Amino acid sequence: MNYQVVIPAAGQGKRMNAGKNKQFIELEQAPIIIHTLKVFEEHSMCEGIILVINDQEKEDFLKLLDDYQITKVKYIVSGGSERQFSVYNGLQAVEKGMLVLVHDGARPFLSHKKIENLLYETQKTGAATLAVPVKDTIKRVVDGKVVETVERSTLWSVQTPQAFFLPLVLDAHRQAKNENYLGTDDASLVERIGKPVSVVLGDYTNIKLTTPEDLVIAKAILEGKH
Ligand code: CTP
Ligand code: MG
Repeated sequence: MNYQVVIPAAGQGKRMNAGKNKQFIELEQAPIIIHTLKVFEEHSMCEGIILVINDQEKEDFLKLLDDYQITKVKYIVSGGSERQFSVYNGLQAVEKGMLVLVHDGARPFLSHKKIENLLYETQKTGAATLAVPVKDTIKRVVDGKVVETVERSTLWSVQTPQAFFLPLVLDAHRQAKNENYLGTDDASLVERIGKPVSVVLGDYTNIKLTTPEDLVIAKAILEGKH
């Protein structure tokens, strides 16, 4: 059940407001992207990492891979203007016949156990994502007024990694591209071509670092691990 992983890290981190790509922000002496890469570096089933980056940051990433002795990065691929295009570019470098994971560079607290649960499910269905049940009550709001309180019991917050049989996700991405469809995650592209996507319970600590408050939570998660 070996796999390759595509890690998109070519964003700008605008909502983090750090004046640089958030991948380079340090948490406990290592940049966020290194925490993420180490999860896969240290997972024996991971056969290779395809890292998707901005060309202008290539030297910086290469130096980090060297400094932190990350050896599993097989290809460094140029990103696109949207996450979906960055993932599309990364998928082109995955070896045929492989199970592929797509995992955000900005999601550093993933456990090996959850990767393995996800892989197990993917083998049965061809596509699966980690997700957690929504804890808050969610309302649909238009022009400052509630139009609906959404039934919570069926709502899940979707995470990465998402895992796929390579031909399925390639096909889904190609069709989305041809039809100018932009989704917010890769599983949604598989859903729209009518294929099932399984949901595997993730961890609430597998957060994506998006805004400055998330760095405070990140420090607490790291402290909890020690
Ligand atoms: N990403 C990417 N290519 C893009 C946009 C995003 O590879 N054109 C990556 C990011 O680097 C990140 C992941 O996709 O690891 C999830 O995206 P997000 O959290 O939105 O990161 P950013 O796009 O960098 O942040 P923002 O939207 O706040 O600018
Ligand atoms: Mg973004």
